Amino acid sequence: MRKPFIGGNWKMNTDSKIAVELARGVAQKCQQFLSKVDVSVCPPFVYLSAVKNALGSSNVGLGAQDVYFESKGAFTGEISCQMLKDVGCKNVLIGHSERRHVIKETDELINKKLIAAIEAGLLPIFCVGELLEQRKAGKTEQVVKEQIQKGMAGITVEKAKVVTIAYEPVWAIGTGVNATPGQAQEVHLMIRQLFAAMYNKSFAEQLRIQYGGSAKADNAAELMAQADVDGLLVGGASLKADEFAAMIKAAAEAKK
Ligand code: 13P
Repeated sequence: MRKPFIGGNWKMNTDSKIAVELARGVAQKCQQFLSKVDVSVCPPFVYLSAVKNALGSSNVGLGAQDVYFESKGAFTGEISCQMLKDVGCKNVLIGHSERRHVIKETDELINKKLIAAIEAGLLPIFCVGELLEQRKAGKTEQVVKEQIQKGMAGITVEKAKVVTIAYEPVWAIGTGVNATPGQAQEVHLMIRQLFAAMYNKSFAEQLRIQYGGSAKADNAAELMAQADVDGLLVGGASLKADEFAAMIKAAAEAKK
């Protein structure tokens, strides 16, 4: 049985005061579900330390939204895995669609980041997903497979065990139009079968696959009810502690 895993990706939102209040709210409202659900929040880099403090002794994990693969040196503006660990990060998002499509990150760069994060002992959430035109052209499977094969290149089964996948169809992100539970399930199952082929079946059965893209309190239960949806990666709705907590509750109940 895979423990559900809900992540909150705050993206480039909040300020220092709001970030701390939100973290406190999440810690308080989610505590009762943490035996059944893993929860992490991913604030902007500059608020990581303040959020870590605000989370206090709660078991809500801290994650970063990105990382650079080099460990130190002349890489102006970048943040290393060691720095993330130093401020208390457990997770890191890698390959988010906004980094792929807005910042133009390549599969090769994403692969280097994944390798570096795993080596450093971080637990990566590796994001994949197709654009609307790719879905319309019937290329969803091909695109997602390629992102996973290139992203995971050279990563052995032992190392791959710390990875969570987030399937985030780009057309569903921030649009209010979520993938239907059936659409999510179809791609999640395909991803699990791909991992079984790339690695082995028992590892694939343990792999947690989150869905992301306009996930909210209203649709969390039906998404989580799908057999291969093991969690959610939540953008907008994670900025409200009450709504985020409602989604965590839905996840706890869906996988009883
Ligand atoms: P929204 O939930 O705002 O659509 O964002 C999803 C996402 O990109 C999470 O990483």
